[in-house]
Amino acid sequence: MCGIVGFAGYQQAAPVLLEGLEKLEYRGYDSAGIAVSGVNGDGEPSIEIVKAKGRLKVLREMTDDGRSVPGCCGIGHTRWATHGEPSVVNSHPHYAKNKRVAVVHNGIIENYQTLREKLIREGYSFVSSTDTETAAHLLDKYYEKDPIEAISRLMFHIRGSYALGILFLDRPGEIYAVRKDSPLIVGRSEQGNFIASDVPAILKYTRDVCFLPNLEIVRLSADAIRFYNVDREEIQERFTQIDWDTEAAEKGGFAHFMLKEIYEQPKAVRDTVNPRIRDGHVVLEELGWDDAELAKIRRLQMAACGSAYHVCMTARYMIEQTARIPVDVDLASEFRYRDPLLEKDTLVVVISQSGETADSLAALREAKSRGLKTLAIVNVVGSSIAREADSVFYTWAGPEISVATTKAYSTQLAAVYLLAIALGRARGLVDAEKEAAMTQELLRLPDKIERILEEKERIQWFANKFSHSKDIFFIGRGLDYASSLEGSLKLKEISYIHSEAYAAGELKHGTISLIEDGILVVGVATQNALFEKLVSNMVEVKSRGAYVLGVTSYGNYSMEDVANYTIYVPRTMECFAASLVVVPLQLLAYYVALGKGLDVDKPRNLAKSVTVE
Ligand code: M6R
Repeated sequence: MCGIVGFAGYQQAAPVLLEGLEKLEYRGYDSAGIAVSGVNGDGEPSIEIVKAKGRLKVLREMTDDGRSVPGCCGIGHTRWATHGEPSVVNSHPHYAKNKRVAVVHNGIIENYQTLREKLIREGYSFVSSTDTETAAHLLDKYYEKDPIEAISRLMFHIRGSYALGILFLDRPGEIYAVRKDSPLIVGRSEQGNFIASDVPAILKYTRDVCFLPNLEIVRLSADAIRFYNVDREEIQERFTQIDWDTEAAEKGGFAHFMLKEIYEQPKAVRDTVNPRIRDGHVVLEELGWDDAELAKIRRLQMAACGSAYHVCMTARYMIEQTARIPVDVDLASEFRYRDPLLEKDTLVVVISQSGETADSLAALREAKSRGLKTLAIVNVVGSSIAREADSVFYTWAGPEISVATTKAYSTQLAAVYLLAIALGRARGLVDAEKEAAMTQELLRLPDKIERILEEKERIQWFANKFSHSKDIFFIGRGLDYASSLEGSLKLKEISYIHSEAYAAGELKHGTISLIEDGILVVGVATQNALFEKLVSNMVEVKSRGAYVLGVTSYGNYSMEDVANYTIYVPRTMECFAASLVVVPLQLLAYYVALGKGLDVDKPRNLAKSVTVE
């Protein structure tokens, strides 16, 4: 996720762009850049680009708050690295050949590798590792006289998601933009016209905006805005008045970043999964290991902290079942000191959203010091864990602001599913038919998550009844135990309600003595073979006074015979069910905390990234 802004008007563009980018820093903050079209010393049109690694203030200092870059039309970008580490060369805007075109991009061009190779064969040279530079060169290639034609040709060739802001050298004073599955708005005002990824970037200047529909192109100058469809026909678009305040606008109208990020999960999962599935096959070429290499792995050792540790717990069940490889899972803080017995041919997998968690980094270093092959599943590109691991699997969740992880967790689950399928195929346990069925279902998960989100009111209503609980328990078996751990952590970290998750079979070994009248027990049951057993455990706690909430898949209606209240999620392959049941558990935690009037995004005593031991 990155932030884009563009301005064509009657005043210097660079200061306006920097102001806009400041409001979009929540979308990415590892580097930033602006491109302004103007005239060079010889009176020729020029596009001047200035970029800086790090927070926006570095770019501000470099440009004297924008004053040193003259021109009334420009585009800007604040980056959250996806392809290529955070660096000046990888930051946007990107030029095409001869500096004829400058581009800023938010999204992921899935087929960029193939396009890049083709362009190189045609004589284009690349300076960055980004997918975006491909779009810049393609625009240069297709641009003859008509920018709209070049953009529509580009749209036929690139796959994935994009919002692009474009300057053409011979069109000074004009900005072109297009979008597919990444947000882009167009704003109009007396001072000039704008594009932006999000409303806050331009709210200081205008509330009169158009949410650009998918697959539409816009051309704007200081005094005109024109919209086109992909067939290059001019169309009319509606503008609406924004009546939110700035703070609400930064959260896209959501009350909290946590809720916004819960809603971003379908996109985050799509962005993580789609580029890695081709023709029914999982393609993990970024790891640098082919199937022969994967087949040599005899054991997996996984280590992580907090929610990422719960992903490892899920992975153990999933990978052992799919690829029949033994998987050991450790809390990173334990792994680093327990002097583990690790045999060669063990792959050590460290999972981390931030890539900076001290214990996870130490676990990775411990594995490396023993000469083992390491794989990091990380969200932040260029983070310490990503840099130090032998191979990196990036989750494309975008920046996660809320301390309680939601969308990063969902993308980590998706990553381990893809890894499990690839390992199973390499070991001859997942044949082409099974791989096709599994990948097809993976591609459907985002839609199923969307369906759960549509029913959030039921969860909200239920959560309100329990926001004053003292204790809440979660129980599950197998994969559902791992999901219960995550549901319980989510609840306790933001609602401050004491909560524990148990493998349901353990209840009778002590825990059941804690059950009192009215206490809430959440039973998670998505695994057919364990369904009856879990239901029996729910009966046991209910008969001791517990109020029981069942979370299961549609079709398992016998849950209602025991549960006081039931939440259903769409059916999926059992091995992927964790991706669906976690969503109501996140919403439950969110609404319980909200009911208590707590600061959901910044819970007490916690930090987003734990970089100390
Ligand atoms: O950045 P990481 O994924 O390494 O962080 C690990 C944990 O600190 C993190 O998952 C934490 O448990 C979350 N706040 C849970 O929501």
